[in-house]
Amino acid sequence: MDQIKIGIINVSDRASRGEYEDIPGKEVKRLMNLWLINPWEAEYAVIPDEQDLLEKEMIRMADEEGCCLIVTTGGTGPAIRDVTPEATIAVCEKMLPGFGEQMRQVSLQYVPTAILSRQTAGIRGNTLIVNLPGKPKAIKECLEAIFPAIPYCVDLIEGPFLESNPEVMKVFRPGQA
Ligand code: MTE
Repeated sequence: MDQIKIGIINVSDRASRGEYEDIPGKEVKRLMNLWLINPWEAEYAVIPDEQDLLEKEMIRMADEEGCCLIVTTGGTGPAIRDVTPEATIAVCEKMLPGFGEQMRQVSLQYVPTAILSRQTAGIRGNTLIVNLPGKPKAIKECLEAIFPAIPYCVDLIEGPFLESNPEVMKVFRPGQA
């Protein structure tokens, strides 16, 4: 089987200019390494909050690199330059609003401003694209809440069979109780 590829896109004006270290991208990679037992390779990008650049990068990672999953960090809030959900909607054929709903519900237990995140998820071809907020702490809180449903979603879009280490992350597949 082809190598499993996961796209990680840190959407941040300041990180793209080198003013911030790419802590969000590293946090996504750390969690994936901790939870997934499949060998996988990261496709990595740090992009400014520009919708056209972000769309191009998502399309490249999905269509050319064959990533089964793309995780974005940042740009989900209400600020003028926050356009990550718009870019995601533009490149996806189907939206999966449950991901955003679940992340907001969980995040509201931590901070009332979680209501400000417009994060969403969707499908482009055989690729699941998921938005996370940009704060490293929020990344873990959100990814932990949605990760159990990701491998089955990837099964349904005919991607690779993702398996986790159940001691640190239990995934759920219907029929495999
Ligand atoms: N979700 C969690 N779990 N923890 C947080 O601290 N911060 C919120 C929200 N979601 C937060 C969170 C805040 S303050 C904002 S503005 C939005 O995410 C959007 O963040 P982003 O623009 O970095 O994507």
